[in-house]
Amino acid sequence: MPLNIAMDGPVGAGKSSIADAVANRLGILHLDTGAMYRAVGLACLRAGVRLEDEAAVTAHCGKIHIAVAHGENGQITLLDGEDVSGLLRTEEVSMAASAVAKYAGVRQAMVALQQALARETAMLVDGRDIGTRVLPDAPLKIYLTATAEERARRRWLQLQEKGGKDTYEDVLADLNRRDEQDMNRAVDPLRPAPDSVTVDTTHMSFDEVVDHIAALAEAMRG
Ligand code: DC
Repeated sequence: MPLNIAMDGPVGAGKSSIADAVANRLGILHLDTGAMYRAVGLACLRAGVRLEDEAAVTAHCGKIHIAVAHGENGQITLLDGEDVSGLLRTEEVSMAASAVAKYAGVRQAMVALQQALARETAMLVDGRDIGTRVLPDAPLKIYLTATAEERARRRWLQLQEKGGKDTYEDVLADLNRRDEQDMNRAVDPLRPAPDSVTVDTTHMSFDEVVDHIAALAEAMRG
């Protein structure tokens, strides 16, 4: 079994960019599992499947083929062979991903796919249920977090740079809603694995976080 690293944490903790940087530093791949749920959400939107209809969403998930490849610019997410990586970050797809990720049938299919990928190659896998469900035996599990206020502040600054009009209060309220959904869903809710290392980034810079996690991984690799 290759040495895999599990990384979980709430929305806005900086998981994706931190995971990218740490994986690069260690010379291993970064598997972004959120992109896979986003691709399922996109497929349902395209097919006009009602997102509240668990049976219909689960049936549609069984008909599509999700795959990932790793190119020069990181992960490429494929939906029935089409590269949909550039279509996954819209608000509409975020909402759809969050809706389909609640369903046990969808989760089962994605977890199986993620486990098969991690069996083949050493990877840093980021998501919500990686330490608790996908890779419970991973030798290093990170729970990356920060206060809701700090996560909202970072997200708000990003949106401001893109010319967004949302107020800080809107961003914080949205983040609290998504935390609530991720942490309280019936199937595999977000929570730290009992043997995970919590990294609270509230008062840490990006580079400090990357150095810290890379050092933990290097210590584990011996
Ligand atoms: O990390 P992200 O925002 O790209 O994730 C998109 C959605 O998928 C989000 O609602 C959380 C969900 N998700 C999940 O339930 N389990 C994972 N392993 C990864 C993401």
